[in-house]
Amino acid sequence: MIRSKIAGMGFYVPANVVSNDELSKRVNTTDEWIKERTGISERRFFVPEEDTNFGMGVKAATIALDKAGLTPQDIDLIVYATLSPDYYFPGSGVLLQRAMPFRNIAAIDLRAQCSGFIYGLSVADQFIRSGMYKNILLVGAEIHSTGLDFSDAGRHVAVIFGDGAGAAVLSAIDTDAEKPEGILSTHLHSNGEFAEQLAIIYPASAKLDKFDSKNMEAGGGYFPVMNGSFVFKHAVTYMPEVVMEALNANGYTPADIDCLVPHQANARITAVVREKMGIAEEKVISNIHKYGNTTAASIPIAMCEALEQGKIKKGDLVCLTSFGSGFTWASALIRWV
Ligand code: UT7
Repeated sequence: MIRSKIAGMGFYVPANVVSNDELSKRVNTTDEWIKERTGISERRFFVPEEDTNFGMGVKAATIALDKAGLTPQDIDLIVYATLSPDYYFPGSGVLLQRAMPFRNIAAIDLRAQCSGFIYGLSVADQFIRSGMYKNILLVGAEIHSTGLDFSDAGRHVAVIFGDGAGAAVLSAIDTDAEKPEGILSTHLHSNGEFAEQLAIIYPASAKLDKFDSKNMEAGGGYFPVMNGSFVFKHAVTYMPEVVMEALNANGYTPADIDCLVPHQANARITAVVREKMGIAEEKVISNIHKYGNTTAASIPIAMCEALEQGKIKKGDLVCLTSFGSGFTWASALIRWV
């Protein structure tokens, strides 16, 4: 039976560390407020001369390929998840394709915000299961710092986001149908009813003033807006639900999970999800204190650190889950090989 495994992972975060105290020089906030409400101590903001969105993707992808023992020539498809692409179009996937010695393979840009990595994992997994491709590069990368509203109106959003990139190489494996290994299943959902509860509206193709510089200067529509408590409540409902969906689909219970890697949105969200599911704290990955919320990059960055720390090992049952703008939410269950 053909399944896919994660053959290698890598991440890159800019060297520029922005502490809560440093941020509070630009934003009307405090270290105490940010830590209490989110668990975040610091995040990375990119340095314009040094990084771009796809450039960070290249750095993460280079490590992932190396860990997988593959070269760009071995890759059959690029899946690139981001909500902060380098250009309005074309997508960042082709910029990554240009920057490394890939063949003229397809590059799919995927827009599922905080669920981008798991959505991308699912897309890549289906291509491998079907037999169409053998090795796929999946990247999640974001630059938030150039598009945040540092005024009082946006401070609840400005303090949570950070920049960074993560990448995974998925490879085909032949696995026992009775005891499958690798990616067991993925579960994707969306509900567009609440699209504007967490969104950046401009540049909007149906608005005549979509590139109006006055509108841009005023910030209207170009900054992320979020109904924080509304998003929070949905996150702590749907993340446990979609984890249960993955467990039920494979005949497991929460007690079987060796490592849960939730999207790093807020340490309080992670704590509620963990408590609702009755999973021990040491089995749940949380690194939001160091990087803030890096949307599509948050899960691969957290997985890389979990691997480095030996919290994900061969044979482990690993569960990923996300919730974010869209709303989109998702899970993936992996028997690690
Ligand atoms: O990754 C995608 C999904 N995103 C999420 O899952 C995020 C979900 N939401 C959250 O994590 C939380 O809603 C936030 C961390 C964003 C905000 O926390 P909150 O507890 O919901 O705060 P709030 O926005 O309701 O604001 C509470 C108070 C307000 O003051 P009053 O009206 O009570 O006097 C705000 O003005 O805190 C004030 N406030 C701040 N104070 C200092 C809001 N932001 C800040 C700030 N610093 N940065």
